[in-house]
Amino acid sequence: MSLFSWSDEYSVGVSSMDEHHKQLFNIINKLYNVMKAGKAKQAIIPIMEELIDYTKYHFQEEEILMEKAKYYGLHFQKQEHMKFIFQLQALQQEIKTEHNNTVVAIKISSVVVNWLLEHIIKVDKRYEDYLKTNVTQS
Ligand SMILES: [Fe+2]
Repeated sequence: MSLFSWSDEYSVGVSSMDEHHKQLFNIINKLYNVMKAGKAKQAIIPIMEELIDYTKYHFQEEEILMEKAKYYGLHFQKQEHMKFIFQLQALQQEIKTEHNNTVVAIKISSVVVNWLLEHIIKVDKRYEDYLKTNVTQS
């Protein structure tokens, strides 16, 4: 797992959502730095909490936007969002009971990174053209 830096190719064409995604990158990088420094899970748990909270907020806002734009992919997005929140919460529980820092790091990397790439680069990219023409940005 390496640090993520934002690039325009990740843009979904809606500035508020890009800002949210950037914030997700920030939290994930914070998580990465703590893991790299070999810090105990006591340091990881609050950042995971922050990631879960922010992700919930982001999904909620994204769904509101999609609802307003009557986006055809809303149902699929909602399912994906629910699945990922569930995965993050399960991961948080596992971290609490796992004593090996390396195992914790591997688990976080696979869930968080896979999701980040899947969600922003693949799933959210699909709404780019649709929302660009159906949402008036402020
Ligand atoms: Fe998103």
